[in-house]
Amino acid sequence: MTLRFAIVGAGVISARHAEALGAFPGEAELAAVVDLDPARAEDMAERCGAQAFGDVETAVEATGADVAVVCTPTGLHGDAAVRALDAGAHVVIEKPADVTVERIDRVIAARERTGRLVAVVSQHRFDPATETVVEAIRAGELGRLTSGTANIDWWRGQAYYDSGAWRGTWEFDGGGALMNQGVHTVDLLVAAMGRPVEVVGFTATLAHERLETEDVAVGAVRFASGAVGTIHASTAVYPGLTARLQVHGDRGSAVIENDRLVFFHRTPAGTERPEVFMGAPGQSPNQAGEHGAGAAQPDALVRQYRNFFAALRGEEAVRVGLEENRQAVALVTGLYEAARTGAPVRL
Ligand SMILES: NC(=O)c1ccc[n+]([C@@H]2O[C@H](COP(=O)([O-])OP(=O)(O)OC[C@H]3O[C@@H](n4cnc5c(N)ncnc54)[C@H](O)[C@@H]3O)[C@@H](O)[C@H]2O)c1
Repeated sequence: MTLRFAIVGAGVISARHAEALGAFPGEAELAAVVDLDPARAEDMAERCGAQAFGDVETAVEATGADVAVVCTPTGLHGDAAVRALDAGAHVVIEKPADVTVERIDRVIAARERTGRLVAVVSQHRFDPATETVVEAIRAGELGRLTSGTANIDWWRGQAYYDSGAWRGTWEFDGGGALMNQGVHTVDLLVAAMGRPVEVVGFTATLAHERLETEDVAVGAVRFASGAVGTIHASTAVYPGLTARLQVHGDRGSAVIENDRLVFFHRTPAGTERPEVFMGAPGQSPNQAGEHGAGAAQPDALVRQYRNFFAALRGEEAVRVGLEENRQAVALVTGLYEAARTGAPVRL
């Protein structure tokens, strides 16, 4: 059976979804494009051979769409998702699920009420590098986790923030460099390190004008396991460097840079860990090459959709849903509150 899709919000990211769905001929079909701006809806609908609509309920009813993909500005995600669920569709929501945990909880309630499935896009959880590291952590091959760091060292020009009235606003973006750009790597930090329980932080707006929210955020986190972590999320790093996740334990470490495993050292269960008096890179061979570090990167959004399709068939669980994304959003909003109040925030 071919699943029929409705894309809600025909902006920049919607094109990636249309492209990813194109990787499933016979399995998925884009039937409807919804946008408040009729010209945007019609333009994309025409390009994709779909029908254009002004609201999600009419789109689902008219086309019998099975799945709605929410690509609106972030602060409107929850509202659009609840409306799509109530109209009878399953839902895929672009990251982050919404701008507060309370709003995400409303979507969780609607999901429970309707018995539909909801996935939240966090495509980098489906990168082979992330899968390798998370699997190694689960198998205990990094030992006791000690610390993790998430660094998003990016640049966004003023023209980026001027390109959409919602960008960089509290109401619709939910924050700046940390909530919009950083949430991917923060989500990976949580996937690797487990539940965050406390956060402190500072934020600043230093390299942009007419920006309500921050262009740089730093924070320190404590996880339920006792491990600690740091976050540095910025769109004020000219000319733009990398996104990097580091995870460290007493039997191994991993570094993922720009979605690729660049350093990996694990000690498999039952293997003796050589005693090291003072560690240095030369003494700890980089095993990243043994784990496909140089291989071509598959399309991670396609891989996330593959999991969602398997979940709809009842063959797999939704790997990244509302509960997973809620932890990343809680950490981001907790860091904002800590920066505002100057006090640590318990999550
Ligand atoms: N996964 C990723 O890597 C990734 C990358 C970019 C953006 N995003 C996310 O995608 C979302 C959209 O970002 P974008 O850059 O495409 O924004 P955009 O401004 O380019 O597009 C948003 C579209 O939504 C429409 N819209 C606004 N309110 C609407 C409503 N109530 N109903 C229907 N349509 C409505 C707007 O008219 C616009 O066409 C954001 O939440 C962002 O965080 C994710």
